[in-house]
Amino acid sequence: MDRRWWQRATLYQLYVRSWQDSDGDGYGDLRGIISRLDYLEWLGVDGIWLSPTMPSPDQDWGYDVSDYLGVHPELGTIDDLDALIEAAGQRGMRVLLDLVPNHTSSAHPWFVESAASRQSPLRDYYVWADPAPGGGPPNNWVDFTGQPAWQWDNTTGQFYLHNFLPAQPDLNWWQPVVHEEFRRILRFWFDRGVAGFRIDVAQGLYKDALLRDNPPCDEEDGPLAGRFGLQAVYSENRPEVHAVYREWRSIAESYDPPRLLLGETWVEDLRQLAAFYGQDDELQLAFNFPLVFAGFSADSLASIVASTLAALPASGCPVWTASNHDVGRFPSRWCGGDEAKVKLALLVLGALPGSLVLYYGDEIGMTDVAVPPELARDALGGHGRRPGRDRARTPMQWDESASGGFTAPGIRSWLPSGDVAARNVAAQREDPGSVLSFCRELLSLRRERAGQPQPGYERLPASPGVWRYEAGELIVTANFTGRPVRLPAPVGKVLLSTAGDRGQVDPAALAPWEGVISSRVR
Ligand code: NOJ
Repeated sequence: MDRRWWQRATLYQLYVRSWQDSDGDGYGDLRGIISRLDYLEWLGVDGIWLSPTMPSPDQDWGYDVSDYLGVHPELGTIDDLDALIEAAGQRGMRVLLDLVPNHTSSAHPWFVESAASRQSPLRDYYVWADPAPGGGPPNNWVDFTGQPAWQWDNTTGQFYLHNFLPAQPDLNWWQPVVHEEFRRILRFWFDRGVAGFRIDVAQGLYKDALLRDNPPCDEEDGPLAGRFGLQAVYSENRPEVHAVYREWRSIAESYDPPRLLLGETWVEDLRQLAAFYGQDDELQLAFNFPLVFAGFSADSLASIVASTLAALPASGCPVWTASNHDVGRFPSRWCGGDEAKVKLALLVLGALPGSLVLYYGDEIGMTDVAVPPELARDALGGHGRRPGRDRARTPMQWDESASGGFTAPGIRSWLPSGDVAARNVAAQREDPGSVLSFCRELLSLRRERAGQPQPGYERLPASPGVWRYEAGELIVTANFTGRPVRLPAPVGKVLLSTAGDRGQVDPAALAPWEGVISSRVR
């Protein structure tokens, strides 16, 4: 089972710059993580995914890589990373890195060389194109800020493609040499003991070979299908990408234990999501964004869960996550900061068959922080109808001191902290009724089953607003209403309740927003 350690495991996404500063510069770093590993062990996570750690000019905070084989000096050294992998391993936790294969930084030596002349031997590492016949960009693709996805280059008289910022030129995956480079990069980190990668923009590597215009969105297109009114069908989501993951999977499987490929699969159609699992020969895990954008109601969540499980191949392990550094924090989006709802969300996701990915701070119900424009650090988010992304990247709230325990006293952190007095780890550790204490109990329940095959899932009948399901030996009953509800039968042997000790509570009733995990064995 160790070969599928990630199955039913709990992973913890850690935004390195914001988790723990060890050297008093206001930025979190790798040594800071090492100093807090005991906390993660206590919490009960099985692995951590570090947001980008490679050298970068930080136009997009590490998602613009200038050296795939190094560590960003602001975050530490490669020795620090080795030490982190070692120290995490001693505590039973694996370390995943973030891999950005869709684009590099424009400061990457590949791009500098590619842009030097049309004859450069590295010219085809990137997507260069002539102007459209009447002049202007080669097609109608737009980047994530809504601007044309093409940047004119005066030196060589062509445009280059950037799906994100102009400082993030897209690589050209039609070139075998790009595949070769990434095979090398994968092996380099796997050899060092990295347990796997979260793959950035996993659906995006290949672009249409003819660079055809994207068609306009349909009325019914949801937030994931369209980009500024255009369907991203030619600028990403191309079928050729699957061959890359088959190749990477065989590399991952050549290690013991096999390394994990977790895709940032930003797709709306769950059948498309399922395709990233291949025949158990592509990604082992693929993020489910339709769930992130679902409403916080029994029917809305149950419906996405049912469709996901129906779409995934039998061997496919679903991934449940609701917060990240792009989409914001679920305690705000779903719960409006209400801790009863935060516990309920953790409970329903944590008891489902599949892997759970928590974003740092989910475990204490950390909410989005309104970062004033003059302190904003994110250049890419906040365009069109998308809210800015700094709101979910603020420092971890460890205690109620002025710096929230994130950095040294008197040091200004790179982003302002949220309300550290309202929510912090130190206070919640002492409080058995806190979100943190609840989350720890939930993870401990999960841990007993980590690595085991996925159990079946079945939604059970329940009154409106109640989501009741069976998953293996567990029965989950979750009241998504602000009213107490009566159940047709007692919940059974309670293993965990969001309301704490159910003691004398009527076994056939749930409090408003209460969720209960019970055992099928009555
Ligand atoms: C997805 C990452 O999660 C996001 O933060 C980044 O801006 C884009 N990909 C571009 O790399």
